[in-house]
Amino acid sequence: YQDRINIAIDGPAGAGKSTVARMVASRLQYIYVDTGAMYRAVTWFMLNQGIDAENHEKVLQHAQNMVIELKPHETGQMVLLNGEDVTPFIRLHQVSASVSKYARIEGLRTKLVHLQQQMATQKGVVMDGRDIGTTVLPDAELKIFMTASVKERALRRFNELRDESITLEQLEHDIAERDRLDAEREVSPLRCAEDAIVLDTTQMDINQVVEAILSYCETVLDGERKA
Ligand code: CDP
Ligand code: CDP
Repeated sequence: YQDRINIAIDGPAGAGKSTVARMVASRLQYIYVDTGAMYRAVTWFMLNQGIDAENHEKVLQHAQNMVIELKPHETGQMVLLNGEDVTPFIRLHQVSASVSKYARIEGLRTKLVHLQQQMATQKGVVMDGRDIGTTVLPDAELKIFMTASVKERALRRFNELRDESITLEQLEHDIAERDRLDAEREVSPLRCAEDAIVLDTTQMDINQVVEAILSYCETVLDGERKA
């Protein structure tokens, strides 16, 4: 039997995916892969180069030879783009506001999906994103689709940001708009895989969510041992 599995965690912004995925990975001593950080790194790069998201050809030209690396770090995960640490920039509001416009470009997704699949070949990976259970790791042994109400998700981000210049209403609007773009795009939209477990975390705290996933994981591993 195999003693390690892959865990796919998908869902909209602010559902708690990255916080929970990181904790689950640490408890299981698995590798955590934040795929959103990869799309964010590319977005930061394109914004810096002044490359418009509508100009798909130019985006792809620049993305072609781009090297993206994820490195584990004490405080989470480091993202290197062409060898340069871009971690401090990828959560900036301007990146959050534009990332979905770049993430819908098919050729760019193909490149990143391929990279993500390579990271998971050895199993023992917890990967979070939008299309992990459906497209990146359709064979993942455990798939979680994490949601929460838009209000709750905006509130979580608000408490996290503590940025006086952004109101709760603005955040709620931005998150709803990003949900819409992510769910409506043609290439691997945000969608719950048929075999995913849906977890509504609106009323759950982080530890409850982590324990729930660890318990699903135990069930899957038990099944693997018996098989
Ligand atoms: O952390 P947050 O939920 O705000 O977003 P994220 O996971 O960092 O992802 C940022 C954006 O990248 C998403 O809104 C999607 O547009 C895109 N993304 C994607 O298209 N596919 C993924 N597997 C992960 C992220
Ligand atoms: O990755 P995703 O965008 O899905 O969410 P996140 O960045 O992990 O979580 C957003 C914020 O909500 C973080 O500050 C978490 O600490 C918080 N959170 C929470 O308060 N309760 C939960 N059940 C999950 C996350």
